[in-house]
Amino acid sequence: MKYLSRILVLVFLILSQIALGQGGPHAFYLTWMKDPTSTITIDWHSNEMEFETLKFRIKGSEKWNEFESTVLPFPFSDRLVHRVGIQGLEAETAYEIQFNGLDSIFYFRTLPATLNETSLKIAIGGDSMHQKEWLETTNRIAASYEPDFVIIGGDMAYENGAAENLQRIYDWFDAYTKTLVTEDNRILPCIVAIGNHEVVGGYYNKHEGYEQTDEYRYRLAPYFYSLFAFPGQPGYNVLDIGNYLSLIILDTEHSNPVLGEQTKWLEKTLEERRDVLHKIPIYHVPAYPSVRDYEGFTQSLVRENWPPVFEANGVRIAFENHDHAYKRTFPLKNMQLDQSGIVYVGDGAWGVDPRDIHSVFDTWYLKKAQKTRAFTILTLEGREFSLISIDGDGKVIDSFPESPLLVKTD
Ligand SMILES: [Fe+2]
Repeated sequence: MKYLSRILVLVFLILSQIALGQGGPHAFYLTWMKDPTSTITIDWHSNEMEFETLKFRIKGSEKWNEFESTVLPFPFSDRLVHRVGIQGLEAETAYEIQFNGLDSIFYFRTLPATLNETSLKIAIGGDSMHQKEWLETTNRIAASYEPDFVIIGGDMAYENGAAENLQRIYDWFDAYTKTLVTEDNRILPCIVAIGNHEVVGGYYNKHEGYEQTDEYRYRLAPYFYSLFAFPGQPGYNVLDIGNYLSLIILDTEHSNPVLGEQTKWLEKTLEERRDVLHKIPIYHVPAYPSVRDYEGFTQSLVRENWPPVFEANGVRIAFENHDHAYKRTFPLKNMQLDQSGIVYVGDGAWGVDPRDIHSVFDTWYLKKAQKTRAFTILTLEGREFSLISIDGDGKVIDSFPESPLLVKTD
């Protein structure tokens, strides 16, 4: 009898250990706040109010290092955000991580220090979750291309900054955790921009008494500023990757006006990066819409103020969203067709219901447009760039430079 009770206690202990082993965080999220060639920011969400420990090592090594999380609030939730920022990493190196309470070992890769011998592959899109299933489908297709990382240019979870839509936020991070991971457990870091659906009312100018402060912006977009370490306050930012790529993340009137401080910041930021090989702006509302009105307020404001700054500072491609279709423009400069101009690619259809597009033949700036869910794989190789765009069924629908293998899909 004594033995039996001891065995029962032992069995109970083993079972509870197994249960703990299957626990772990509700979700995780990897991004960068500093140079991706030498840093990483790792978030996970759990109900633990005290710090948790993250195990960390170079892939293939024996010994784990341990990092304690900083615990941050998760709006409208009894979950908490646990964040670990690590610096001083080697470029183009795989690091393994193990979350508290989870048996699986994941890894991520720092980005290469230069593009002298290697290329960089980025999956880019926006407007990601009308339905969780569509988000997961596109995530899986994107992950199958094994990109170095992912960019979502606004309208991630469609929660509108509202407490009652908390489940949409849970769903978005659950989808990330399950589907923006490659088959061999590499987590794909993600960079996001703010869109109207991150913000109460969609646009700052809907709020009487708006103030351009951290506190006011937080009230407008509580999940965005709490759950995405980058871009962080003030909602627009630059991420410099080695000295070959600068991602310019902008806010199209959602928690900041286009005019004033943000455009001044953009001018200064791009001027300081004139010599960087690739400068890529990513933002939500398109200057050159495939669906919405060309003369619309935000579209016009963006078009009149930012492309001149892009053009003056060597930008060659920009990514736009919000319209829920696929588009690629002709090269444009001074609001005209110009072979030396900038190509605008978008238009935000990662996981949404696609919309009817403007006629490609009647719309002077559209080279391609299609009513479809889609995202783009951008490859940087030395100073060159190329892209393919892929629809919701995994079919390649566009390439730039254009490929003779692709049938015109207008
Ligand atoms: Fe939008």
